[in-house]
Amino acid sequence: MKDVYILAIESSCDETSMAIVKNGKEVISLTTNTQMNTHAKFGGVVPEIASRMHTESILYVLDETLKKSNMKIEDIDAIAVSALPGLMGSLLVGVECAKTIAYIYHKPLIAVNHIIAHIYANNIESNLKFPLLALIVSGGHTELLIMKQDYDFDRLGGTLDDAVGEAFDKVARVLDLKYPGGPNIERLAKEGNNTYNLPKPMDDESYNFSYSGLKSNVINLVHNEKQRGNEIRKADLACSFQYIAVDQLVRKVELAIQNTGIKRVVIAGGVSANQYLKEQMQNMTKKYNATVQIPSLIYCTDNAAMIGAAAYPLYLKKEFADFSLNAKSSFDFKNC
Ligand code: KG4
Ligand code: ZN
Repeated sequence: MKDVYILAIESSCDETSMAIVKNGKEVISLTTNTQMNTHAKFGGVVPEIASRMHTESILYVLDETLKKSNMKIEDIDAIAVSALPGLMGSLLVGVECAKTIAYIYHKPLIAVNHIIAHIYANNIESNLKFPLLALIVSGGHTELLIMKQDYDFDRLGGTLDDAVGEAFDKVARVLDLKYPGGPNIERLAKEGNNTYNLPKPMDDESYNFSYSGLKSNVINLVHNEKQRGNEIRKADLACSFQYIAVDQLVRKVELAIQNTGIKRVVIAGGVSANQYLKEQMQNMTKKYNATVQIPSLIYCTDNAAMIGAAAYPLYLKKEFADFSLNAKSSFDFKNC
C-alpha cells in the first residue's frame, strides 16, 4: 500500500503545533510553539491572547514543519486539524489554516477530535490493541472508556464536576504555584509526605469521578490555616492532594479491569505526564497481569503528532470534511 503523509494542525488551547505523520505512526517532523510563559503571567490561559498568538505563529510553525521534513505541501496526502473541543478562537485559527491549505492545494481535509487524539498519541510509539480501557485525564476531561475498535467507544463513566487537570491547576494556584499547575504540584509533592489525610471522593462501585470536593477541601484547609495564623506545609499538602487525586483514578481503572476483564489500559491527556500516576497505575495493573500504556512526555501534552495519528484511520475510511467545517468548543462522550 502507498505511504500516507498527513500534515496535522493543533491549536485548541495554548500550543500552536504542526506535524507531518507517515501512516499514522511515524512522526516525520513536529514543531510546537508553546505560549505557556505568556499565560503564566496571568495564572491561566487568556483566550483572546491565545488566539492572537496562534495567528502570529501559525505560518512560522508551518514553514518550520515543512523545512524539517524536507517535504513540500504537494507531497502531502491530507490535511488534518484539531476541530473540537477547545477554545473557540484558538481552534478557529487552526481550522481556517487547514481549510486554506486544503483548498489551495486540492487536498482532502480531516476533522479530528482533540480528546480522541490524546488516545491515539499512544499509537505513535506502540500499537493500540483492542479492546482496551482508555482513561482520559486532561485539563477539561476525565473519562473512562472501553475502546473496542478504531473510533468505537463505550463510555463507562466520567467526572461529575471538575476534571482532574483542572483540580491540579486550581490547587496549584492556592499553593502559589505558577501555571500550569500540574507539573509544579508534582515537583513540590516529591519534597513532601502524605500527612494531610484528605477524604477520598467517590469511594463507591461506580465509574464516576469527582474532583470539586477534593479541590474545595484543599482550598478551605489553606484558608482556615491562614486565618488561624498557622503555617501551611505546602509540599506535604501537594503530596496529600496528589495522593488522593491519583488514588481515585487508579481505583476506578482497577474496578473496570475487575468487571470487564480487559487487561490493556491506555492513559491519555496532559495529566498522563504525571510520573506518580504512571507508577501507581503500573503497580496496580501488575496485580492483574495487565499492561498500561502512557505516551512519552512530548506526546502527553498537546501536540500535532497525535492529531496526525488520529487522522489516519479516518483517512483510510475516507471520512473527509468539507469546507463548511467549523470549530466546536465542546464535546461529550455521552453523546458519542
Ligand atoms: O491535555 P492537556 O495538555 O490540555 C487539555 O486538553 O486540557 O492537559 C492539560 C492539563 C493541565 O491541567 C495541566 O496542569 C495537566 O494537564 N498536567 C499535569 C501534568 N502535566 C500537565 N497534571 C499533573 N501532573 C503533571 N505532570
Ligand atoms: Zn489536550
